[in-house]
Amino acid sequence: AEPSTLVIAVDGPAASGKGTIARGLGQHFGLPHLDTGKLYRAVALSLLRWGGDPESEFAALRACDEVSGLLDDPELKSETVGGIASRISAYPAVRSALLERQRDFAAQPGGAVLDGRDIGTVIAPGARAKLFVTASPEERARRRFAELTSSGLPVHLDDVLIDIRARDERDSHRSAAPLVQAEGAMLLDTSAMTAAEALAEAIRLVESTFPSQ
Ligand code: DC
Repeated sequence: AEPSTLVIAVDGPAASGKGTIARGLGQHFGLPHLDTGKLYRAVALSLLRWGGDPESEFAALRACDEVSGLLDDPELKSETVGGIASRISAYPAVRSALLERQRDFAAQPGGAVLDGRDIGTVIAPGARAKLFVTASPEERARRRFAELTSSGLPVHLDDVLIDIRARDERDSHRSAAPLVQAEGAMLLDTSAMTAAEALAEAIRLVESTFPSQ
């Protein structure tokens, strides 16, 4: 049977498919979904608009106050914003400023799905189901390239791959809440899967954590 409170933590690197999977899990299980990368992207966008220096932890902390007003901005998706988000997300002050809002979301009655880098390790270590979603850097670059091109942004595949590798490096090697497979997280490599196949497998993995009968 499905447990009455179902928290699902979905972590993984950029363009691994974790966002699509997390959204799909939310729909499938009837749970609210939070893309936590958006919070870091909103901090980055605020800095960019206001001309704040991303090298300054203090400036980045101030930018956290503007997050709520920017969560629906189409510019959140841009590579520029993603790159700055990856930098400012290394600041412990920024991570703690965004912590409570994520923990509150995870604590909703009934549960929630959250995706990011540190959901299973820091935000919701007690989550019933933890998935670590990954794919090869080349495959992730192809996906991100297709996404950017279809939204009309002129990019080169090689540059996207370089960006992805740089982002992996930063996200995995920072000292504050680095991207790692959480204790108890189930690995889902989507390299050779369509989005539908990846979601079906994710549902199966989540269901494998349910108490039987
Ligand atoms: O998932 P994304 O590409 O939208 O995330 C943008 C950046 O935000 C990512 O490079 C690292 C950071 N991030 C984080 O540090 N912790 C999270 N839970 C989510 C994102």
